[in-house]
Amino acid sequence: MRHLMSPLDFSVEELDKLLKLACDIEKNPSRYANACQGKKLATCFYEPSTRTRLSFEAAMLNLGGSVLGFSSADSSSASKGESVSDTIRVISCYADICAMRHPKEGAPLVASQRSAIPVINAGDGGHQHPTQTLTDLMTIHSLKGHLGDLTIGLCGDLKFGRTVHSLIHALIRYPNIRFVLISPEELRVPGYIREDVLDKHNVPYEEVERLEDAMAKLDILYMTRVQRERFFNEEDYVRMKDFYILDKSKMALAKEDMLVLHPLPRVNEISVEVDDDPRAAYFRQAQYGVYVRMALILTLLEVEVC
Ligand code: CP
Repeated sequence: MRHLMSPLDFSVEELDKLLKLACDIEKNPSRYANACQGKKLATCFYEPSTRTRLSFEAAMLNLGGSVLGFSSADSSSASKGESVSDTIRVISCYADICAMRHPKEGAPLVASQRSAIPVINAGDGGHQHPTQTLTDLMTIHSLKGHLGDLTIGLCGDLKFGRTVHSLIHALIRYPNIRFVLISPEELRVPGYIREDVLDKHNVPYEEVERLEDAMAKLDILYMTRVQRERFFNEEDYVRMKDFYILDKSKMALAKEDMLVLHPLPRVNEISVEVDDDPRAAYFRQAQYGVYVRMALILTLLEVEVC
């Protein structure tokens, strides 16, 4: 039995296979319509979510399976003090696979160690969000045609943004990847990622504060929101929240084939005037999230579709 805690749980070859499967699902959805008939997905979300929870549920329903779960800690027995270890042992009696989001880093890993069914980390605190990374990889691969030879700008809250941390881990395994890390000083990528991931693997990167200084060199611009829920005080959040706003004037500095990605939800960091720009790919990205989660469910449940 396999779980997914980090994008590194899959080798590059396994990721390629998963993305290939997701592309086939996109092209031939009817072929997969009954693949998970009789199977159940539990979504255990201790933190708010729109895309991750609903795209997991859509994915399982598209595969002919069923879904059950809870969407907040308050509506589960966590509010009475139940541990994730006990919860997953019980969920294992009700479902075949579980997607779990939790505000505490490592909580889905703890659950996976007591689980009788595959557990998927659907976001743990400021740590990792591997299924967003699968979504991001599918988006880049589908729209650019390759995952190597890219200059990727990561912009915004690089300190608390778990999608950024997971994406860096995943992309450094592809050839000729360069990063431009665009953030204010207080929201820089954590030291452990710079030293243990980027420096250790000799991945070229630069850190800049002004988005305008980076635009012209980017193949991908990955925008992120400032993570209000991870700040210790509201004052710091208010000071930081509008540090970056991508608008038409900044888009004019970018390459004609640059892609703008965002894991969403957005707050103010991308002006709505950018939505109609053909380079804005963030809503297409949300759609790819369904196909890639379908592929992940099939892979972890070891369901083969002929
Ligand atoms: N991208 C993402 O994780 O969105 P949700 O918080 O809505 O799931």
